Amino acid sequence: MERMLTLFLLCPALFFTTVTSQRDNVCLRPNLADTIEMAGLQRYFNPGVELALSCIDGYTPVLGPRKIVCTVSGEWTKTRFLCTPKRCPYPDPLSNGELYYEDTIYQSTINYTCNEGYVLTGSSTSVCQANGTWSTLVPECTPVTCDLAPIPQFGMIIYDTTVRGNITYYGTTGMYKCHLPYALIGNPRAECTASGTWTKTPECKVVTCRPPHNIARGYMSTTDQRDFDFMETVKYGCTGDFVLEGSQEIVCQQDGNWSEKPSCKAPCEVSINRGRILYKGRRIWIKDFEPNKVLHKEIVSVYCKNAARKCGYAVPTQCIDGRLQIPECFKEPSYADYNFHSSSLPSEITQC
Ligand SMILES: *[C@@H]1O[C@H](CO)[C@@H](O)[C@H](O)[C@H]1NC(C)=O
Ligand SMILES: *[C@@H]1O[C@H](CO)[C@@H](O)[C@H](O)[C@H]1NC(C)=O
Ligand SMILES: *[C@@H]1O[C@H](CO)[C@@H](O)[C@H](O)[C@H]1NC(C)=O
Ligand SMILES: *[C@@H]1O[C@H](CO)[C@@H](O)[C@H](O)[C@H]1NC(C)=O
Repeated sequence: MERMLTLFLLCPALFFTTVTSQRDNVCLRPNLADTIEMAGLQRYFNPGVELALSCIDGYTPVLGPRKIVCTVSGEWTKTRFLCTPKRCPYPDPLSNGELYYEDTIYQSTINYTCNEGYVLTGSSTSVCQANGTWSTLVPECTPVTCDLAPIPQFGMIIYDTTVRGNITYYGTTGMYKCHLPYALIGNPRAECTASGTWTKTPECKVVTCRPPHNIARGYMSTTDQRDFDFMETVKYGCTGDFVLEGSQEIVCQQDGNWSEKPSCKAPCEVSINRGRILYKGRRIWIKDFEPNKVLHKEIVSVYCKNAARKCGYAVPTQCIDGRLQIPECFKEPSYADYNFHSSSLPSEITQC
């Protein structure tokens, strides 16, 4: 229908120009940008005709003049008239979400998305309208909700934040605990996840440990041959000069095993026959060192000689579970030197 109308209008007009163009100059319909609107539908305009220019919806006029006139020479007067798209205000940021847009002019689109664990309420897109306003309000990202965390039998949960009413939100966390003597089996941490459910609930189970065994050269705080409950403890000690290494106390763990037992470590003998030692800050002749015994982890020094500088120096060595290594630089003095020239021994001469 529209095409037929155009043809109808065009044909007589063409005929009209060929005939009349020698007499009068007319103006052709001006070639304007798509965004400019003008009054009048015709293809030819007579000199003296004024055309008012305006912008289509969504565009704003800039510069001018806003009017062109057909002159006697068959040309339109000049104009710098332009139409620019309207601009919508810059969108506000979205808390707990993101917005994506390339521009904020007429027909631009904003896409809204929410971060993990948040749901969008409102419209996820907004378009800049012809009147320079956005088509929708800024949506909201509201956190996913969970019910209260499920509580295991014989257990409880301690939330890390205050929980009001019946609901919790994405990211709420807590710690499960079991009432004694029940032991917690599973993950003690709880969290309201992005899918609106809680992480797996652990179980509270009865756990017992077998009666503990004694350790070599030691004794225990109990001789009960019974099963022990989760978290019960037993203490160990060592007999005589043996020294306890490790934790003095063991505990019945949630896996039904005892924590690692300590052990009793043996004392050492200082295996030299002639010479002086340095022990706990005292210089002692070995024959006066009674009893000849240092405890596990204790340190003793023997004396060596620096032959070049003719001086003596103490070399420390440590007792490790019954073994005390005498440093290699130590030379046991001869019977004669020890008894008659003791002032020449490394422990007696000038110290380095
Ligand atoms: C908005 O989303 C639509 C559909 O998913 C996509 O075609 C368009 O490119 C997006 N626009 C922006 C600015 O991200
Ligand atoms: C802008 O245009 C839209 C759609 O035509 C309309 O709903 C809205 O009320 C207009 N806003 C203003 C401020 O004129
Ligand atoms: C908890 O939820 C129940 C129903 O599920 C409801 O009847 C009750 O009022 C809620 N309590 C609170 C404190 O919101
Ligand atoms: C408990 O101890 C036994 C024996 O030493 C060992 O085989 C088992 O793996 C331990 N259990 C756990 C959960 O560590």
